[in-house]
Amino acid sequence: MASNDTTYRKVDNMKLIARTALTTLVAGATVLLLTPAAFAVDEEAAKQLARQNNCFKCHSVSKDKDGPAYHKVAEKMKGKADAEETLIHHITSGEKAKFPDGHEEDHKIVKTDPPHDMAQIKNLVQWILAQ
Ligand code: HEC
Repeated sequence: MASNDTTYRKVDNMKLIARTALTTLVAGATVLLLTPAAFAVDEEAAKQLARQNNCFKCHSVSKDKDGPAYHKVAEKMKGKADAEETLIHHITSGEKAKFPDGHEEDHKIVKTDPPHDMAQIKNLVQWILAQ
């Protein structure tokens, strides 16, 4: 009797493991399928918006200027669930930015045409995160 109990429990465990594995697999496949469509970055549009806003005066992709290199920002944000949200806030809120010489001033607020176009702002942030 006792051995039967153990057998049942084992079968139950196997089922649970199989179900968990399947769920993980399906979730993973869904992410893979959705990711390219959801994050198709328009690189030219992103750079153009950055140029129009003089972002490159203080930032470059690979070298630190007054502001950190976008590559460094992307590295820092890697794997963070709130990366996009954090950077959107950073370039839309005018929060304080610390310069290398120690002084602080309000960070530039990105301007779009039409104003406050979230799609353009998101595209720029996604491009930065891809550097
Ligand atoms: C006058 C110089 C200047 C301009 C112009 C400027 N930035 Fe920055 N930016 C900075 C500085 C300085 C920091 C560092 C802020 C800090 O660490 O406190 C920074 C930080 C950032 C970060 C990193 C934020 C983080 O949380 O790590 C991003 C992304 C960024 N800027 C994007 C932009 C974009 C996009 C533009 C154009 C719309 C822009 N910046 C224009 C100076 C500038």
